[in-house]
Amino acid sequence: MPTHDQVLNFGAGPAKIPIEVLQTAQSELLNYDNTGMSVMELSHRGKTFGKILADAKQNLTKLLNIPDNYEILFMQGGGTTQFSAIVYNLLAAKGKPDAPVDYCVSGSWSQKASEEAKRLGANVNIVFNTKKSTGAYTSVPPQSEWKLSGSDAAYVYYCDNETVHGVEFNSIPDVDSSVPLVADMSSNILSRPFDVSKFGVIYAGAQKNIGPSGVTIVIIRKDLLTPLKSAAEIPASGLVTPQLLDFKTLADNDSLYNTPPTFAIYMSGLVFKHMLEKGGVEAYTEANDRKARKVYQVIDNSKIYKAPVATEARSRMNIPFRIYPETLEAEFLKGAEARNMVQLKGHRSVGGIRASIYNAMGEDGVDALVAYMKEFEGQHQA
Ligand SMILES: Cc1ncc(COP(=O)(O)O)c(C=O)c1O
Repeated sequence: MPTHDQVLNFGAGPAKIPIEVLQTAQSELLNYDNTGMSVMELSHRGKTFGKILADAKQNLTKLLNIPDNYEILFMQGGGTTQFSAIVYNLLAAKGKPDAPVDYCVSGSWSQKASEEAKRLGANVNIVFNTKKSTGAYTSVPPQSEWKLSGSDAAYVYYCDNETVHGVEFNSIPDVDSSVPLVADMSSNILSRPFDVSKFGVIYAGAQKNIGPSGVTIVIIRKDLLTPLKSAAEIPASGLVTPQLLDFKTLADNDSLYNTPPTFAIYMSGLVFKHMLEKGGVEAYTEANDRKARKVYQVIDNSKIYKAPVATEARSRMNIPFRIYPETLEAEFLKGAEARNMVQLKGHRSVGGIRASIYNAMGEDGVDALVAYMKEFEGQHQA
């Protein structure tokens, strides 16, 4: 049986968690801070959990340099719930239920988010859809080609890193300063520094670059928190925000309106602390750049591997590639498993191979993958 140290988990999420964090959780599992209880058994309204929550917020604030006019929320329901929550909250903030909502569609997650907005009855404007314009989700068009609604829009939405297709934005979109920019950073939050003040809302499911599934981090500019209304107050819109999707309800109650996912928050907090001890986001950025460069280099110098994504939009976190002839892919995956490299299969909607190399994947793990890729190509020269 391989140990946690021996297995290289290239899964897209739930994904690898640093061994040091797991060891801390293990050592504290039966008796957290001399309470005689596991974190999972603590009251979410007690002092001990209160400190876990406050520390997690404080450490995330440090890691991302979050300004005072932003609120951090810990929510449930994953990234998918945010597809709906964003629509409700930001149309309420705009105060105009029929205002256009702008969606940049660069992969299947932003596509799904735009579909949910349509389903909820929002006036969706597609800023671009690369699959429609180029036939595939493999690029981000230059901003000169985007069809933004301008200052009328309630928000501009994009997915900073498309986990399935491996398409990542290499800069923050430049939008009208009066329009809140919304980013799904589920698969690349904390992988590089960025200017939080450019955003209205940032959200990220924890299960990729942070910790376990079950908690979603939401970072929202405070002026966008809007008092919850009843249907009687906005009779024509139909967009009455459900209580638990309402950012203001969560903010007013410090994410404790109802029982939060306490263990997932605790684990996320341990990861934040671990990251600070390792030098913060900057230290991870350099390693992430180097790790991704190594994998893309092997692909680009190869006769059998091919990365479909345009160079300037290539993700540093999720690297999808094909092997030609495609019949070799099953053999590649089998050989990888034999070397304890697991979860390298591409998403079922695109096939091929996908190496997810989040913060927790060490450079030695990437070196092992790269060595195997070279060895495999050596055995299958075209
Ligand atoms: C970028 C991105 N957004 C949203 C989601 C949906 O998240 P969840 O499964 O937590 O609802 C995912 C899931 O993989 C994702 O990668």
